[in-house]
Amino acid sequence: MEELKSDFPVLHKYTYLNTASSGLISKSLVNWRHNHDMQFLTDASVFRDQHKNHIESIRSKVAHFCGAQTNEVSLVPNFSFGLNTLIEGIPEGQKVLLLDKDYPSINWAFENRDFNVCYAEINVDLEKNIEVAVAENQPDIFAFSLVQYLDGTKIDFEFLKKLKAYHPNLLLIADGTQYLGTENFNFSESALDVLGCSAYKWLLSGYGNGFLMVKESIQNQIFPSTIGFNSADGIYSKQDDLPFVKRFEPGHQDTLNYGSLEQSLLFLEKTGMDFISETNRKLSNYAKNRFAALGLLDQYIVDRKEHSTIFNIKGDDALFQKLKNNNIVCSQRGDGIRISFHFYNTEEELDRLCRFL
Ligand SMILES: Cc1ncc(COP(=O)(O)O)c(C=O)c1O
Repeated sequence: MEELKSDFPVLHKYTYLNTASSGLISKSLVNWRHNHDMQFLTDASVFRDQHKNHIESIRSKVAHFCGAQTNEVSLVPNFSFGLNTLIEGIPEGQKVLLLDKDYPSINWAFENRDFNVCYAEINVDLEKNIEVAVAENQPDIFAFSLVQYLDGTKIDFEFLKKLKAYHPNLLLIADGTQYLGTENFNFSESALDVLGCSAYKWLLSGYGNGFLMVKESIQNQIFPSTIGFNSADGIYSKQDDLPFVKRFEPGHQDTLNYGSLEQSLLFLEKTGMDFISETNRKLSNYAKNRFAALGLLDQYIVDRKEHSTIFNIKGDDALFQKLKNNNIVCSQRGDGIRISFHFYNTEEELDRLCRFL
């Protein structure tokens, strides 16, 4: 753990419990970025000549990491941009089921277009609420976060499989920003049709990079109109025959930010996704028990079977200020204080937090 911590100087300065807001970047990644900039400084277009191969290697890495095919992965600057571009290509008037109080970039994208939206509530019966809403409203699309940003509620993946089995034509569009990187995941084996993600949180990649994955089997149902010369790889004759994923990459792609994503995925793989999954699972159980014993959780979070690496605990401005004054970094969200931790955190850090609660 000490070796791991030495790559993340932030962990020596703070009790950092704020990955749900911003993930850490490592010293190794900063070195790689510096080297990348130096190459651009010294070789300009000669260095840039390699960028297409590099972008394809990043695409392959994302596909491999997420268990997707390369022709299902677009590299986008962030989740919100990816989602908006995608749904511009979905015929208006469709019925869309959303979760009440889900992340605004998901809900607003649909609410601000001519879709017919309905909602399911997030509470202890989340999956039941979705099932009932689907039966009542017969939506064409269900769009949601895999993990809720406010309180870390995690949707049941087995439930999603059943939902898809009973409603094969229901398009499942998910946001993985608060989830991907926290445990093993395989897109091909999941029930999801679309999964988008900003990579600056749990994927530790810094800002300006993310991806959107769209299963090949549904690409013929979505018609994004976004286009640019890069979509055709700079070849005039390809204008009418673009790969689906290139619709989301109309212009020149940046190898510093997307390259950071590739480096982080290599780092996570080297650290071991099994190790990361297990560490996060243990930390989550530990935190849940400690917070529940202190009476700091909503009962419905205590009652749910599985939970993520994000918790919202009861606490006011004064407590938040006290934590801040003691170098404990977390966020105020909703009515409480959001605590989030990743594999680089420890039970000792959670104990330190609990001493102030
Ligand atoms: C669930 C969820 N999705 C997406 C984002 C970020 O999206 P973007 O990078 O497009 O602003 C956040 C950020 O807090 C989030 O919590």
